[in-house]
Amino acid sequence: MRSRCIETRRLILRPVRLADATTEYLSWLRQRDSRKYVASARTTGGLAELRGYIARRLKRRDVLFLAMIDKTSGRHIGNIKYEPINVAEKHAVMGILIGDPRWRGKGVAAEAIHGSAALLRDRFGTARVYLGVHKDNPAGLHAYRKAGFRVTARAPFPHDPGVVDVMVLRLSPRSTVTPRKRVAKSRARGS
Ligand SMILES: CC(C)(COP(=O)(O)OP(=O)(O)OC[C@H]1O[C@@H](n2cnc3c(N)ncnc32)[C@H](O)[C@@H]1OP(=O)(O)O)[C@@H](O)C(=O)NCCC(=O)NCCS
Repeated sequence: MRSRCIETRRLILRPVRLADATTEYLSWLRQRDSRKYVASARTTGGLAELRGYIARRLKRRDVLFLAMIDKTSGRHIGNIKYEPINVAEKHAVMGILIGDPRWRGKGVAAEAIHGSAALLRDRFGTARVYLGVHKDNPAGLHAYRKAGFRVTARAPFPHDPGVVDVMVLRLSPRSTVTPRKRVAKSRARGS
């Protein structure tokens, strides 16, 4: 299990466990933004359902579900999930939730994305990571742009009459993108 852990500057990323289904995790799903923007937050009622949600994903080979652990305190602060991972077509769909609001706006999403992207590329051969973000989620859009994602399409959001931006991050064969530089360039172009 140790080899499946990833260490980034501030985080340990390790597989989500059944024991992670705590009232604190449940409280993340009950936050207004989570209910609005995270599909699983709407369908997960209580702890038993949350355990079931985790258990189903632990059985699947096409899912990489990682807990973000703050290295300093050892606390579970959020999750990053790739589901499904399509090995044949070399792509994966990502979902992310920084559950602890004190950790939002600190670049943790980009850190977790780039930390886990290398594992995804090396273990599953993934070349492209997709995600869907609600157009009314400015923090999400901004965070993903900073992390190197680009909008590739607009599609109906399955849980909402709104619109979702489909974004893609292309993983280079060796290293991940350097997000800060790219944002600086796109700002200079006025996009
Ligand atoms: C969206 C989310 C994943 C972003 O992760 P994060 O680690 O907090 O991202 P960042 O640290 O890059 O911060 C978000 C950026 O958006 C900015 N931002 C926040 N609210 C904003 C708003 N209303 N309008 C524009 N930008 C906003 C922040 O200032 C920050 O930008 P900066 O670093 O240039 O100052 C995280 O906040 C989260 O999990 N939110 C709740 C659930 C959710 O929305 N999940 C995503 C579903 S697609």
